[in-house]
Amino acid sequence: MTAASTPVLHHVKVSGDASYAIDIGPGLLAQAERIAVHLRGRHALIVSDGNVAPLYADALETALRAAKPKLALARYVLPPGEHEKTLARFGECLAALAQLGATRDATVLALGGGVVGDLAGFAAACWMRGVDVVQLPTTLLAMVDSSVGGKTAVDLPSGKNLVGAFHAPRAVFADTSTLRSLPARELRAGLAEVVKYGAIFDDTFLDWLEAHAEALLAGDDAALAQAIARSCVYKADVVARDPYERGDRALLNFGHTFGHAIETEQGYAGATGDGLNHGEAVAVGMVLAARLSAELGMASATDAQRLRALLERFGLPTAIPAGLTPEALLARMRLDKKADAAGLRFVLWDHAGQARVVAGVADETVLRVLASG
Ligand code: NAD
Ligand code: GLY
Repeated sequence: MTAASTPVLHHVKVSGDASYAIDIGPGLLAQAERIAVHLRGRHALIVSDGNVAPLYADALETALRAAKPKLALARYVLPPGEHEKTLARFGECLAALAQLGATRDATVLALGGGVVGDLAGFAAACWMRGVDVVQLPTTLLAMVDSSVGGKTAVDLPSGKNLVGAFHAPRAVFADTSTLRSLPARELRAGLAEVVKYGAIFDDTFLDWLEAHAEALLAGDDAALAQAIARSCVYKADVVARDPYERGDRALLNFGHTFGHAIETEQGYAGATGDGLNHGEAVAVGMVLAARLSAELGMASATDAQRLRALLERFGLPTAIPAGLTPEALLARMRLDKKADAAGLRFVLWDHAGQARVVAGVADETVLRVLASG
C-alpha cells in the first residue's frame, strides 16, 4: 500500500467561505503527498518548538522535499511553552519568512501544539496581509481545538491571546501517532477541552467519556481518534455557523474566562511546572463556571459535581491554585475578550450539555465562587 492510499481514520469538513478538511489518523505526517497538495507556491516555512522539532520536523521536511523537489523550505523553531507565545517570537517568525523570501503564495506549516499553531497562524495571517497556513497539530489539545477554526494569537503580559486575527487554515492534519510521545500531563490537558464539548453541547458525549476514561488515559489509539473526531465535529459545526464569534462560538469559551485569568495571573508558568497549563486552567475554570451557574440558580450542583468528578478522573486540577486571590483573578477577567462595555460576560450552563452566555453577573457573586474555589 502506498503512503497516499493509507486510509485516513477520520475526515471532518469545516464548511463556510474558507472551507477545509481535517484529516485524523496515524502516520499522516509521513504522507507528504497529502500535505503537499495544499502548498500553492514555492515557499514553505515549518514553524515548530524545541520539543516537537527534534521528533518530527526532519521526517516532515524529507517527505515534503521528496513530494515537491522545487520547494524552498525553511524552519523556525521557538522554545517550548506558553510564555514563548509572545510578540517577540512572532517577530522572529516573520523574520524567518523574510529570510526565506516567502512570496504571497507561501505556506506556513504549524507543527506542534496550540502555542505553535496560534503563533504560526498569526504570522501567516500577517505576512504580506495573509498567506496560507496548514495546521499539523501534535498535542491532543491542538487536535481537538486550537488547530481548527482559525483563531490565531499571541499573549501579552497583561492578558492571553490579546493580539491576534481570525485566519482559517487551508487544511488540518492530525497525525495521531505523534500523541505517543506526548507527556501524560499534556494528554490530560487535552482531555479538558474534550470534556468541554460534552459540557456545552452534548451530555451523551460526557456519558461516552465516562465510559471510555480508562482507554483515553491509557492512550488507546481508537478511543483517542474517536474523541478527536467527535470533538472536531462539534467544533466544525459551530465554527461553520459563527466563524467570527458573533454568537454561539462564544460557548467554546466555557471555563476560559476563569482559566485565562489563572494563566495570566501565574505569568503563563505552566511549562515550568510553576503554574497550570492551558488545559489544566480550563479544567479549573469549567468547575468554577458550573459552580457559578449553580450559585445563580441556573443549574444543579449535581451537574457541577459530575463535571468535577470526570475532570478529576482525568487527573486534572479542579481547584484554584494556592496564592491566587479572588480580587486579583476578577481584575484579570476584566481584560478578557468576552468582557465588553456592559461588563463581564460568562459562559454558563443550564445543565450538562447546554450552555449560554450570561451578562450582568454581580461581582460579589463571582468573588463568592472564587473565594470558595
Ligand atoms: P503547547 O503547544 O505548549 O504544547 C504542550 C507541550 O507539549 C509543549 O511543551 C510542547 O513542546 C509539547 N509537545 C507538543 N507536541 C508534542 C508531542 N507530540 N510529543 C512531545 N511533546 C510535545 O500547548 P497546547 O496545550 O497544545 O496548546 C495550548 C495553547 O493553545 C494555548 O496557548 C491556548 O491559548 C491555545 N489554544 C488556542 C485555541 C484556538 O482556537 N486558537 C483553542 C484552544 C487553545
Ligand atoms: N477555542 C475557542 C474557539 O476556537 O473559539
